[in-house]
Amino acid sequence: MDKILILDFGSQTTQLIGRRIRELGVYTEILPGNADLGAILGSRGTSPAASVPPQGAHGESPHDGSLRGIVLSGSPESVYTPEGAVPDRRIYSCGLPLLGICYGLQRMNFDNGGRVEPLPRREYGGVKVTVKAGRRRGRPVTFTAWMSHGDTLTELAPGFVEKGTSETGYPAVVVHETKPWYGLQFHPEVSHCERGTEILSSFVFGICGCTRGWTMAAYVETVREDLTARTSGAPVLLLISGGVDSTVAAALLLKTLDPHQVYLMYMDTGLMRKDETREVRAALEKLGAKNLYLVMCEDEFLSALKGLTEPEVKRKTIGDLFITIQERETARLGLPENYYLAQGTLYTDLIESGKGVGNKAHVIKSHHNVGSPLVDAKRREGRIIEPLDKLYKDEVRALGRLLGVDEDVVRRHPFPGPGLAVRILGEVTREKCAILREADALFIQELKRRPAPGKNPEGRSLYDEIWQAFAVLLPIRSVGVAGDIRRYGWVLSLRAVISADGMTADVYPFPPKDLIEIATLITNEVKDIGRVGYDISSKPPATIEWE
Ligand code: XMP
Repeated sequence: MDKILILDFGSQTTQLIGRRIRELGVYTEILPGNADLGAILGSRGTSPAASVPPQGAHGESPHDGSLRGIVLSGSPESVYTPEGAVPDRRIYSCGLPLLGICYGLQRMNFDNGGRVEPLPRREYGGVKVTVKAGRRRGRPVTFTAWMSHGDTLTELAPGFVEKGTSETGYPAVVVHETKPWYGLQFHPEVSHCERGTEILSSFVFGICGCTRGWTMAAYVETVREDLTARTSGAPVLLLISGGVDSTVAAALLLKTLDPHQVYLMYMDTGLMRKDETREVRAALEKLGAKNLYLVMCEDEFLSALKGLTEPEVKRKTIGDLFITIQERETARLGLPENYYLAQGTLYTDLIESGKGVGNKAHVIKSHHNVGSPLVDAKRREGRIIEPLDKLYKDEVRALGRLLGVDEDVVRRHPFPGPGLAVRILGEVTREKCAILREADALFIQELKRRPAPGKNPEGRSLYDEIWQAFAVLLPIRSVGVAGDIRRYGWVLSLRAVISADGMTADVYPFPPKDLIEIATLITNEVKDIGRVGYDISSKPPATIEWE
């Protein structure tokens, strides 16, 4: 299968580059911008052989496709400062096509003898770009590109030619006269960039000569062969959270292996959404689960959380208790030593946890399914199975549909591991969980029931338009009136965001009518809620969850 490698220099949009190219039907992989590419480039690179192995998703060779080209991503850094990561120089001698985007273009120019300097004023947003007439295209083309840069090329490296210029007069499209090297000062991966898909498509197919091979059906086939061969009849234990990822992982295991070989364990922490445990159970049984273990541990979690108010302390307590119960309950299952542990880790989870994929080494979730002593031990033994670790969230949804997972589960919004505990600010109590569960269920029920605004031929609901929506219970009460009686109720905030992967998020611009009606419904139906607000903070600077 043809593959495009993306070198991540830390741009917010690196993920998008990967997704856009995959949408074109070509497999992509992301590595840190300064990764050693010795093993990947093999004999293509002409500099001395690599002494350090490359960092694949799990340390194995990331070279499981036929590498056809390399994209150099953008970056918040400048090429002329020490913070600006430098790519393995072998990319310039390997003969593969290169596409530099923003910093990537500046990097290629700088590394090959050109000059890059700060702009007097940062260029941001839609900027008109005119590409000169070429041999194939007889006349110049002007379109609105999307820019975000503080540096520009002030002198082109030998062999580089300016093919397109921004309305502000800076180089916007640069190509090499003799090598298959292309550079864009703008971001074709961003949806606001006109002709962005056309540009990526002409690099991937026209320049790199890729053929479309990345389909979900092809992926499933490879994963299935691998799963059957690796486990050769040994038991596989999958820890289920009830979210899309672990349910799709369960479906994949159940539809590939003998269902009796598959053990599914789900913990009801008491911090789940309304009816969640019942729905998870029904979904898994429908998928053919034979060994399903529901661990009911609400009391244990609520007593551990008693009196705790600090967000990080709450998260750590939940994380530690998860691990304790996980170890106790897995031991109780009495599985043979050689069992495999599976989890629904996604490609983006590996990136967020800094597992050597991409450049984002910061961990945003202190309770995360990538690590626990049990997971670490199984990983050391080579007995961990992560069948979704090459997929993005929307690809997992597509896989779920292919495997027959219920549409209700597939389109479910993400839910954090620590559950309602990070949505009840301050101390978590049984009563507050019950109040929040009711309010949240009403909010979600209304979002699913109400049509999306504007032209809506597919009949999408508000829920489908929103990436993640939920309610948050604040630790304050306010005065109101119900009938003639003074009411002193809790304050609830609604949150609804649009996002590509949760790393950044915009507030969903709610139609006011829907928002007002939903708030009224909640204050009418949930008697302990006195007031409802709508959170209008984007990420950054806020995060999606409140704690
Ligand atoms: P934040 O709040 O960091 O959330 O902007 C980004 C996305 O991650 C989810 N989230 C978590 N998921 N364990 C998880 O599995 C966690 O501890 C956790 N904290 C946040 C959050 O719901 C959003 O989708």
